[in-house]
Amino acid sequence: MSIAHGIRTLGVLGAGQMGTGIALVAALRAKVPVLLHDRSSEQITKGLSLVDKLLAKDVAKGRLTDEQAKEARDRISVVGGDVGIKGLRDVDMVVEAVSENLSLKQKIFTSFVAELKPEAILASNTSSISITKIAASALPANVSSASEEGKKIAGRVVGLHFFNPVPVMKLVELISALQTTPETLDRARAFAIACGKEVTTSKDVPGFVSNALLMPFINEAIMCLEKGTATREDIDTTLRLGMNHPMGPLQLADFIGLDTCLAIQQTLYEGTRDSKYRPSILLERMVDAQWYGRKNGKGFYEYN
Ligand code: CAA
Repeated sequence: MSIAHGIRTLGVLGAGQMGTGIALVAALRAKVPVLLHDRSSEQITKGLSLVDKLLAKDVAKGRLTDEQAKEARDRISVVGGDVGIKGLRDVDMVVEAVSENLSLKQKIFTSFVAELKPEAILASNTSSISITKIAASALPANVSSASEEGKKIAGRVVGLHFFNPVPVMKLVELISALQTTPETLDRARAFAIACGKEVTTSKDVPGFVSNALLMPFINEAIMCLEKGTATREDIDTTLRLGMNHPMGPLQLADFIGLDTCLAIQQTLYEGTRDSKYRPSILLERMVDAQWYGRKNGKGFYEYN
């Protein structure tokens, strides 16, 4: 028997490339009203114009009618300004898609949980940070993690890891914290399926399955470049044409964001204490230089 996700309204925190993509698939595929929040009004404007562009492309390609595109667009509303994050208090599920920074995520979850309905799910789109740690941080200061109330609150936290570009990539990785209840896990899985995604499940280990495998691969490619084994083009072409990858590893690193790659690699290295995950010095230096990849125009390649 399929489990109902029970999401009548979704909140999305963060209107970057991931948050915007999640808002779009929820509105278009799961047909759920979405409240999108970001601290930056500039980011919201950028996110919504991407949504408009992608919907217009689907209409132009005959995959959606004008009416279907309009209905999807109308399901997305913005919450910002003075209302801030509190504007999401009545939703049935929140997907957090802010930067890959534990203290930022913890701050959001702590300040936010008391505002939500008692049955609402709090999902994090983190790529590597411990969901168990995030769940523990969701408790208000006066609630103990071992109390019934503490277990109930943390039990509603789950990892829901989408992939970029969200409208294109068919996977969602589902991660259960030690505290996550089976009901939360089932509802989150049902929601991801309603968004048109296939779901795999991973234990709450650093990087989960996806990034425990992907990041060492990207890091090795950066080390190849660092050692002068081959040019950036030859490294990428080898993997693209030799192994049929849609992008080479350096192109993919630029696409994900070099700051995000470094943050994930640091989480893997610190979380496993295994030297095989040590980020390359070149990656660290590129992030020091604020060369973040496609998002700001300079990474291993240049972008206009
Ligand atoms: N948002 C939405 N759609 C996008 C997009 C974006 N940013 N970029 C491309 N697309 C769409 C295009 O509109 C096009 O759609 P249609 O076929 O419907 O017209 C389709 O993707 C293909 O695009 P292009 O023809 O322009 O280019 P392409 O064939 O080179 O494909 C790509 C682009 C889909 C990004 C492909 O190169 C690819 O799959 N790359 C690998 C992406 C990947 O590995 N993502 C996972 C990264 S890891 C991650 O996200 C998680 C993490 O934890 C780090």
